[in-house]
Amino acid sequence: MAKEKAKRANQKPGAKKSDKACCCSTQYGYFDDARKEYILTNPATPIKWCNYVGTLNFGGIVDTTGGALICKGDPALNRITKYIAQMPGSDFKASTVYIRIKDGKSYQVFSPFVTPTLIPMDKWECRIGLSYSRWIAEVFGLRIQITIFVPTGSNTLLQDIQVTNISRSAKEVDIIPVYEFSHFEAEKQLTNADWVPQTMTLKAHPEKTGHLVLEQYAYMKRDYAVNYVTADAKISSFDGDRRKFLGANEMGSWALPLALGEKELSNSECDRGDNIAALMIHAGKLAPKKTFRTCTQLGQEQSLKAAAKAIKKYRDLKNVDKAFDELAKFWTDYLSAITVKTPDASFNSMVNVHNPRQCHTTKNWSRYLSLYQLGYGTSRGIGYRDSSQDLLGVMSHMPEEALELAKNLLSVQRPEGNAMHQYLPSKLALDEGDEANEGDSREKAADGYCDWYGDDHLWIVLTIAGYLKETGNLALLKQEIPFYEKGKKRAERQKGTVLDHLQRSLQFTHDHMGKHGIPLLGFADWNDTMNLAPGAESTFNASLYGKALLEMMDICEATGDMKSLEKYKGWYQEVKKALNDNVWDGQWWKRWFDKDGVAYGSKAQKYGKIHCNGQSWPVISGLAEGERARKALDSVNKYLNTSNGIKLSWPGYKGFDPKVGGISTYPPGAKENGGIFLHANPWVMIAETIMGNGDRAYEYYNQINPAAKNCKLDEFESEPYCYPQNILGDEHKQFGMGRNAWLSGTSSWTYQAATQYILGIRASFSGLIIDPCIPSSWEGFEATRKYRGATYQITVKNPKKICKGVEKMIVDGKEIDSNVVPFFKSGTHKIEVTLG
Ligand code: GLC
Repeated sequence: MAKEKAKRANQKPGAKKSDKACCCSTQYGYFDDARKEYILTNPATPIKWCNYVGTLNFGGIVDTTGGALICKGDPALNRITKYIAQMPGSDFKASTVYIRIKDGKSYQVFSPFVTPTLIPMDKWECRIGLSYSRWIAEVFGLRIQITIFVPTGSNTLLQDIQVTNISRSAKEVDIIPVYEFSHFEAEKQLTNADWVPQTMTLKAHPEKTGHLVLEQYAYMKRDYAVNYVTADAKISSFDGDRRKFLGANEMGSWALPLALGEKELSNSECDRGDNIAALMIHAGKLAPKKTFRTCTQLGQEQSLKAAAKAIKKYRDLKNVDKAFDELAKFWTDYLSAITVKTPDASFNSMVNVHNPRQCHTTKNWSRYLSLYQLGYGTSRGIGYRDSSQDLLGVMSHMPEEALELAKNLLSVQRPEGNAMHQYLPSKLALDEGDEANEGDSREKAADGYCDWYGDDHLWIVLTIAGYLKETGNLALLKQEIPFYEKGKKRAERQKGTVLDHLQRSLQFTHDHMGKHGIPLLGFADWNDTMNLAPGAESTFNASLYGKALLEMMDICEATGDMKSLEKYKGWYQEVKKALNDNVWDGQWWKRWFDKDGVAYGSKAQKYGKIHCNGQSWPVISGLAEGERARKALDSVNKYLNTSNGIKLSWPGYKGFDPKVGGISTYPPGAKENGGIFLHANPWVMIAETIMGNGDRAYEYYNQINPAAKNCKLDEFESEPYCYPQNILGDEHKQFGMGRNAWLSGTSSWTYQAATQYILGIRASFSGLIIDPCIPSSWEGFEATRKYRGATYQITVKNPKKICKGVEKMIVDGKEIDSNVVPFFKSGTHKIEVTLG
């Protein structure tokens, strides 16, 4: 062992032995499509990468070196573990497992996650799977496999640990899993070092069998919500007090806790201070080839009594295996809603696995909890506009779950028709009238800005229409949902049917137009960072309103409400005229007017002359047609496109300008100020497919495909298995660098762009539309789509190598005279499509 130690002393943690030759096997890792995993082989990623486990009901983030940020129901108000994202990547982050091998009188201690002991492994991989992460590490003659996941629907994080002796001699092994707890109010944990530590409590409950449960709570939660850690194995000792575990009044460190130098931990409970749960599990003397397996549980229930059932269940390793299989089954079912086979392998891998998976993640976490949106305080929550869009990404897979969240959103719409910017999920059930707030737009518009956003309430019209087209459940429109009246309990608030909610959304915008007949901006539109003084107009809001009107017209037709249909047609024509009369700038559309009528996103401006959403959305909404539509999209290509994606605007502001606000707080090329804001990219793809240019749509798709960036991770840096929110633009020195992975509207919209517009398979009130707009080089593709109880096996042939245009469609052997497949209630149906 001494020789091994000396050899390792010169290695860097996670140092790789060799790079595989193929371009998909970079120095960080590679995709294993068969297992639907990304296999990370180097823990020293350029920035911390992560995975998500569980759901918002219980779950959170597990990073690639074992750190775990877990909460139940609400990251800000019911956090369980103390994960401090800003600390260096090598630090302990709320969770690890130490392994200890007896070495004469002392111990060799290491963590198979690499952090926090930083001892290099002989072999190391982290398999980032569908709601689980699995590590396989080899060092000092041991092979350690750890799998972390949350069983579907449970309130328990399981950590399945298997240690195998792969050496030729017996080894005495101990396993010491550790969690560190947070105060349930996550922000208080960081900002209050008086009240918080006085309330943090950890108690031990030893059992006659040798098992142990460590119970943890902030004092006021003792009778309501307790956290616990336990394992199936016998626990010979424990520590609940961080000072005792690290030792020497915390002159010991997470890299080498002094307690691990002793045979047993000190059995410290903790009546105040920093609560941890460290368990000593003696695996015993492991003979060669022998494996010791144990599974830890971290959970939260109302009481330990309430937790007893789950504790018992997961102390049986057979149930752990079963739960893992059930999780796999959930994902197989989920992903089977749409599967595709195109000539492009990386397109297939994104559309079949990683993109719908990310949509599931954004559906759960909105913009509330990531390694960028840290979920502290109430400045975030479930975002009205964000979640409305996220739901469109899961609508074909879980429409009823999507509807549940959509109803929550409708319940924080104001009777006036506009919406609260976000709500706090854990406050909904309390019904105290304070579950929602106006977000950045400042409750009382204290500094002269509007206290509402001009776009929030319009998105939900698209979401509900998406649900209705997916399910055909028109009865939903008659269901009553309360509006939001701050301070009032739900029973006291005004109510309206879902239809009424949607009508009020449109009415609000209809009644809040500016001088040019363009909807008012409010505090901001989709672009949070352009904050003009009240009276400003947003041409994006005009297009979003136009699209929402189109969706509403479809609903009116489906319900036979011809009177409303005519009304909305009229409104649509009004806004179409206003846009075409006032907003065209010669080569593109202007983006905003301030209260004095000065245009932003115009060639007359020095900075921010052209904005991407100003061009894509008039096409998506049909407000722009013909030459102007084409020209605007060509201007996007000319002025905004880069090899790493389309920039949101150009040129970037070169310094802070209080007149425009947030956008100019970023340096040029970053985020909304001329950065590649990925969310806006799929909108251009969709617009290009509407205009019939499948080649360009596909080019735009490819240039932001994160899987394709696996070969240039030194530039991209971000996780290659999910879309980040932004990539630095070409006005920035670090052009190509991705940031803010996972929680971005990019996920939902890229998925919609790929499946509904490039492949062209979309739900509608009259059947399944098949209207592909593919690259002309494709000879065709195959897809399977589950829809309203039936399964459609679709084959598209492209003999003339065109992008768009259905020449012939055969449904179950019979040619039909349209490209809309009629509804079937069940069974599998063959759809053969020929483009031409
Ligand atoms: C962030 C916000 C989103 C906004 C976007 C553009 O992603 O969560 O609501 O639309 O930035 O500003």
